[in-house]
Amino acid sequence: MAITHPSFGTLDDNRIIFFDTTLRDGEQSPGFSMNLEEKLRMAEALAELGVDVMEAGFAIASPGDFESVQSIARKFAKDGPVVASLSRANAADINASGEALKPAARKRVHIVLATSDLHMRVKLRMSREEVLEAITRSVTLGRSHSDDVEWSAEDGSRTDPDFLCRCVEAAIKAGATTINIPDTVGYSLPEDMARIFRDLRNRVPGIEKVVLSAHNHNDLGMAVANTVAAIQAGVRQIESTINGIGERAGNASLEEVAMALRTRHDALPFRTGITSERILKTSRLLATITGFDVQPNKAIVGRNAFAHESGIHQDGVLKDASTYEIMTPESVGWSTNSLVLGKHSGRAAFRDKLRALGYGELGDNALNDAFRRFKDIADRKKVVYDEDVAALVDDEVVRGNDRVKLTGLNVSTGLGTKPMASVTLEVDGQRQDGMASGDGAVDATFIAIRQAFPHEVGLKLYAVQSVTGGTDAQARVTVRLEEHGKLVDGQGSDTDTIVASARAYVHALNKLLAKRERTAPPEMQATALSA
Ligand code: KIV
Ligand code: ZN
Repeated sequence: MAITHPSFGTLDDNRIIFFDTTLRDGEQSPGFSMNLEEKLRMAEALAELGVDVMEAGFAIASPGDFESVQSIARKFAKDGPVVASLSRANAADINASGEALKPAARKRVHIVLATSDLHMRVKLRMSREEVLEAITRSVTLGRSHSDDVEWSAEDGSRTDPDFLCRCVEAAIKAGATTINIPDTVGYSLPEDMARIFRDLRNRVPGIEKVVLSAHNHNDLGMAVANTVAAIQAGVRQIESTINGIGERAGNASLEEVAMALRTRHDALPFRTGITSERILKTSRLLATITGFDVQPNKAIVGRNAFAHESGIHQDGVLKDASTYEIMTPESVGWSTNSLVLGKHSGRAAFRDKLRALGYGELGDNALNDAFRRFKDIADRKKVVYDEDVAALVDDEVVRGNDRVKLTGLNVSTGLGTKPMASVTLEVDGQRQDGMASGDGAVDATFIAIRQAFPHEVGLKLYAVQSVTGGTDAQARVTVRLEEHGKLVDGQGSDTDTIVASARAYVHALNKLLAKRERTAPPEMQATALSA
């Protein structure tokens, strides 16, 4: 039966709502934090991808989180996604979410409270009756901020079924319009999921008026299977993240659920708002921003997802791709013609390529910088692939407003000589130089950066990957820095590994500065740049 929902109006029974939590559940996992600009960029990409609801953050968590939720709320008009903010079941959290969401054209207050005996006893120290009262109180308050309120039963999949029914009934009576049952610890099997939702649908009065939602974690590698089982049991909202990022082993991966629905439409006859051709671009943007690539064999977006290595498979694919491909690479944004531009290509061809890769129109400055980098790479590299263009554009777009810019680098190294590096930075428009020797060219470069712009941080990770194959391939370097327990990751790419390393270090440094500024009290912010 069709549901009338405050944000979506009349919902067809076969429409699946995609609730994306990349910017909240995904962002809160170690090493995945993003600054405001990165979150805004990601939010734009998620909206272009077609997510219906975007959880922008946890407004009460920090001033930075509040600002992110507020800025994302401001960003979208009525035809954009619903913007959500998470809150625990207390007035301070809910009011913070309500306040941050005020500028949103479409908004959702999301309230979570644990319902399993274990969580209630150990974590909340609340009785069942107290939890029921808190649900009523918190959802009622949530409704004073928005007609669209989602209530989540944390550890719902390990909750006593009778008590879960009472909790859901209380939330619906208080005005919740979406009921989400998370498998918080990733413990469930698909049949458990189906049973939970069938039970709720059979037993809870008023359940037919709300949207049921599943939020699955991947601790046993079953998040996507559990999500599909939930859909088959009547769930019409699924919560997921790009690349499956999230707490511990992550959440159900958006791209896998979306493509399961598209590819197996015969068994799963549902509609979504996802433009699947934008999946790869969104996945790559997230990898660039966070510094974490997906594993090569990751379904849909991994480098090998459409690669055919064995002779038998290659032969089959050449004769008819459907022999070994259940979906086309193009349907998720891979390009078959990945050999692209050369050193003679002009700005117009470059701009066309960017459009074809789904980047739309870059601003003039970003386009000029990206084109300059492209020319530089085209001069050094025999062939420039789509992956190369994507890596350099992601670098430029992500880095548009950096306060520290790498403007010069010279390195000398060799057998039996002490590596030396000299670095030029532009810090808020001012030139600053550094020169140092080190235990290797990368070490010398990082020390020279610290000379040009003195700061004290711990280097926690240094990793190099190649963007494409061959000795002239671009290197993509990830650098993780730590300051007072806060971790940031930076990324850089270039055909020269040392240049890519310097870019990655400077990128991480900029993220650290942005973090410092967001957490410093107002009177400190002006001086936050001086290390
Ligand atoms: O996993 C979980 O229980 C959550 C809730 C906040 C929805 O992320
Ligand atoms: Zn979660």
